[in-house]
Amino acid sequence: MSNTRKVHIKSFGCQMNVYDSHRMADTLAPGGYVESASPEGADVVILNTCHIREKAAEKVYSEIGRLRVMKDEAAADGRKMLIAVAGCVAQAEGTEIVRRAGAVDVVVGSQNYHRLPEMLRRAEAGERVVDTEFPVHDKFGALAAPDREQIARRGVSAFLTVQEGCDKFCTFCVVPYTRGAEVSRPVADIVREAERLADASVRELTVIGQNVNAYHGLGADGAPAGLAALLRALAAVPGIARLRYTTSHPRDMDYDLIAAHAELPELMPYVHLPVQSGSNRILEGMNRRHTAEQYLDIVRRLRAARPDLAFSSDFIVGFPGETEADFQATLDLIEAVGFASAFSFAYSPRPGTPAAEMEAQIPDEEKSNRLQRLQALITRQQRAFNASFAGKRLEVLLEKPGRLSGQLTGKSPYLQAVQVMAPASLIGEVVPVTVTEIGSNSLFGEMAVRAYAPALVAAGA
Ligand code: SAH
Ligand code: SF4
Ligand code: F3S
Repeated sequence: MSNTRKVHIKSFGCQMNVYDSHRMADTLAPGGYVESASPEGADVVILNTCHIREKAAEKVYSEIGRLRVMKDEAAADGRKMLIAVAGCVAQAEGTEIVRRAGAVDVVVGSQNYHRLPEMLRRAEAGERVVDTEFPVHDKFGALAAPDREQIARRGVSAFLTVQEGCDKFCTFCVVPYTRGAEVSRPVADIVREAERLADASVRELTVIGQNVNAYHGLGADGAPAGLAALLRALAAVPGIARLRYTTSHPRDMDYDLIAAHAELPELMPYVHLPVQSGSNRILEGMNRRHTAEQYLDIVRRLRAARPDLAFSSDFIVGFPGETEADFQATLDLIEAVGFASAFSFAYSPRPGTPAAEMEAQIPDEEKSNRLQRLQALITRQQRAFNASFAGKRLEVLLEKPGRLSGQLTGKSPYLQAVQVMAPASLIGEVVPVTVTEIGSNSLFGEMAVRAYAPALVAAGA
């Protein structure tokens, strides 16, 4: 195409942003935009931003500072480089961004990506464009779909957003303000997208949403379908070998979803279920609307449905008013569950959220001390979890070339990275692997030849 232009999109924050970044690229592609892996030489750089914690938001402004230098250099060479800010900082701060950062040409809110082509045209003509309209009807339906090559380039494991927004209003969290109310996509739209992905080589789908198990999209029978029904429909899509979902909320972990874990072999035995705290007093202050006991009960019921199920979670330490005893209750909960992995954060006051106004804010020093103690415990559990697979067999989805030649890297059912010597022709296959070594970031293994002899013969191995 004569007017080919390069766009570089950088994602921060959660998987929803990764998915949105892909859809932005898909929507710009018909206009001649080709994605580039680095901002150097790009005609447009889009920062798809996260507002969840103060540090995440600040990162955006330092990134804009770096891009500004590149933009000035491009201008000195007689080229134009546009800078666009998308995502949750764009949604939360809007015009404030163009005021604070003179280098920014476009601010596009999290629901307005379908208008990007036109916004960029106006920006090219010299206008500074801000669009944070909210809410927008059928955000995903308005975006272009990827073509087969694009899907293949993105790999055999794909995210698929099925639900967006949040009605929970945890007192610490900006998401209900940056992503709006919960909206679920219809089952038929999601299944169509999944078929398209599977047809172009995707083998694993992670259905995503801020509260993915609050999913209640229009079902085939005209009634709302829950996440379990959606997962059943996706399990029936030819080519889809594995299903995952994230992020779920304890409040929405219903019987049907727990039953789906017992019933669907495609549904991987690994659940990310944020609890935030193990203290009921703090959970109440957070407006989580569940207790530590209820959380433990959900864990127990999920494990009863699928005994090999492993858990990961999110924790916040140093929420306003958190005492040493509250913190200890969180450590106790971690001991009681035994996590395979977890994300943990020091509480970060976010302007406009109720917790930011609460008294008894915890000093930074105390927060980082608790964070270190919590992370040490999680690291111990994670190591023990990984070590428990030594000599065992795991089903691994081979995803891409590994670091060494002849090596592939893949994922276990528990999202562990697994390195294995295997021919590239097996990318996209789920193969049995015997774990031979436990590394700090991945497991190493050997392909168990028995079950895969036909594929190996075909691959000439
Ligand atoms: N929807 C998901 C999580 C969304 S944000 C849920 O309900 O659990 C991802 C994680 O960021 C949260 O689980 C929480 O642990 C963390 N987080 C959110 N706001 C935060 C804040 N103000 N300070 C520190 N951590 C925060
Ligand atoms: Fe934020 Fe709570 Fe909603 Fe999760 S459930 S996105 S933490 S408000
Ligand atoms: Fe961040 Fe927005 Fe996701 S605030 S975590 S990018 S929903």
